[in-house]
Amino acid sequence: MENQEIDRLILFSLSPEETHYLGRVLGESLSCGQLVALSGHLGAGKTCLIQGIMRGLGVQDRYLTSPTFTLINEYQGRLLPVYHFDVYRLTSPQELEELGYEEYFFGQGVTLVEWADKIKELLPEDHLGVVLEQIGIDTRRLLFTAQGENSRRLLGRFRGLLFSMKY
Ligand SMILES: Nc1ncnc2c1ncn2[C@@H]1O[C@H](COP(=O)(O)OP(=O)(O)OP(=O)(O)O)[C@@H](O)[C@H]1O
Ligand SMILES: [Mg+2]
Repeated sequence: MENQEIDRLILFSLSPEETHYLGRVLGESLSCGQLVALSGHLGAGKTCLIQGIMRGLGVQDRYLTSPTFTLINEYQGRLLPVYHFDVYRLTSPQELEELGYEEYFFGQGVTLVEWADKIKELLPEDHLGVVLEQIGIDTRRLLFTAQGENSRRLLGRFRGLLFSMKY
């Protein structure tokens, strides 16, 4: 069950704590070279999920915020470097090219991208998409879509871990 490949998963979260928890389990499922592409409206919970993912990856930083002014923040996880992009304020893909985004997107670390729908054409073929949608004051719908074999395996691992924790 845990090693099964799946390409879609829909989950609901009823609180920021629950979203953080889902992120933590996802973070524990991630391995080198993987990219998570997050989208959803302002306040949908992207950063909240990412904070959980970072925790799952073993990032110690306690003051994790969105890299609003820097486009990218780098962290050190337990085993892997973690790159957090927030491309909300990106004015052209050229800005990312100047940053040398390929080294991150196609490198050995884990890359997390907020507002990824703005740079769809730059994403690696293999990536895990997450769309967060606010459907109530505290309720969020999370749609995970795996593109490529690595991400399908990742999603299977994530689901397996969630179920084994009796979520
Ligand atoms: N179930 C939930 N999951 C996540 N956040 C929730 C939930 N319910 C309420 N919230 C609140 O919604 C807000 C989500 O903020 P967050 O910064 O994570 O969103 P975001 O998608 O990163 O927004 P932005 O596009 O502005 O960066 C927080 O204030 C959080 O407390
Ligand atoms: Mg955010």
